[in-house]
Amino acid sequence: MSDIDSDIFFAPAQSDFQSIPSLASGKSVAHFARPRGADLLSRTRALFDWTEARSEHKLWPYVRSLQAAPGQAASIRLETGEVANGINLASQDYLGLSSHPAILSAAKGAIEEFGVHSAGSGALVGNTRESLALERELGDALLSEQVLLFPTGWAAGFGVVAALVRPYDHVVMDELAHACLQQGANASTQNVKRVRHLDTEAFREAVAQIRATDTQNGILVITEGVFSMDADTPDIMALQDICHEYGATLMVDVAHDFGSMGPGGVSQIAAQGMLGKVDIVMGSFSKTFASNGGFVAVKQPSVRRFIQIYGGPWMFSNALSPVQAAVVRQALRIVRSEEGDTLRAQLMAAINAYRDEVTSLGEACFGNPTPIVPMLVGQELVGRIGSRLAFDNGVIVNLAEFPVVPVGASRFRIQMMANHSEATAREGGRRVVAALKTAREIAEKQVLVRG
Ligand SMILES: Cc1ncc(COP(=O)(O)O)c(C=O)c1O
Repeated sequence: MSDIDSDIFFAPAQSDFQSIPSLASGKSVAHFARPRGADLLSRTRALFDWTEARSEHKLWPYVRSLQAAPGQAASIRLETGEVANGINLASQDYLGLSSHPAILSAAKGAIEEFGVHSAGSGALVGNTRESLALERELGDALLSEQVLLFPTGWAAGFGVVAALVRPYDHVVMDELAHACLQQGANASTQNVKRVRHLDTEAFREAVAQIRATDTQNGILVITEGVFSMDADTPDIMALQDICHEYGATLMVDVAHDFGSMGPGGVSQIAAQGMLGKVDIVMGSFSKTFASNGGFVAVKQPSVRRFIQIYGGPWMFSNALSPVQAAVVRQALRIVRSEEGDTLRAQLMAAINAYRDEVTSLGEACFGNPTPIVPMLVGQELVGRIGSRLAFDNGVIVNLAEFPVVPVGASRFRIQMMANHSEATAREGGRRVVAALKTAREIAEKQVLVRG
């Protein structure tokens, strides 16, 4: 694929942002989360007015759609119908497998054989030869014999916690764990302790404190291989040791690193020499494996059976379709092959090029080199203006604001892919930095005018 032309004039449409009403510039979804009133339908209105005001003032960078495959360049359509073509730093396709010829042919083969349905829940006859083979192959890759597929990664995360944890049990989780894990914990017990991000000692203290007074009930400790908004990784070995010491169970969500990182692509767990040694591994196919879907890998057949029966979304949602299972199988073959190593090396080169470019222009990326590159923006208004300027100037980035990240800690979440050339990654970085710097100037003027 050819590099993106770097000769595009950066033209911030500053006039767009001269008089932003406070409804569009401020507030977060927290403001509208607990509406009052007897009519459940009409009380949705205030949130809608807020998103409409943001949209009218070009400050609503959500619910956008791709016009074609998620390559390094993409055409993106806003809810308003406006379309921009640009460098795509906003898709989750870390190894660029979504248009790989072998993946497309696996999908076509499965369609020919099975059609395009999902024929039922896994509890009935929703499984197929493809999904059973996928479970075996994932078990082989993760050195964890007992694998269960879910229709999405979200369902896997929520389902495992809901299946294993009862109201008398405890969850100790990293405060930044993904929403599916947080919601699974909240739905299962009130005994949820959120621990400072990556703080191993705080995990030890929390688990020890629970065990000091409760030796009868379970403790599920939850963390991630790569945190989705911070691009960092816990000490998995230390957490597993703590769990062994206190009779707790560790679960690691490898949604972002499985396939894209670690030796043989089998995640940060493998990078830390812990493959086959973590109690529960859970992940998603939607970041690297070109499909919806998720999985959980455990060691004992009894645990797998228990999750089947009590993990709500496994039993009460239709299973992964045969096309999806065939796609993920083929993706896993590539991930584990020499080609996978080459794609991961290309991905890392693009990540390093992006981070280097942005840093040399005076902006900080945080976390470690992973397919996720978070750039702190801070004030929401800067992020809202910045994403629009980026869009207008040919680079597509995702903005994360509350509730995805704390209020006042909004950020651009860049996602790199193996099919970003280094030149494109650098050009993308230059445009994002230009958008961010200009957005800060504009937002400052807004504040001054209003002040
Ligand atoms: C850490 C983490 N876990 C789970 C999920 C859910 O996966 P999916 O989008 O495949 O449902 C995501 C996706 O956003 C994630 O980032």
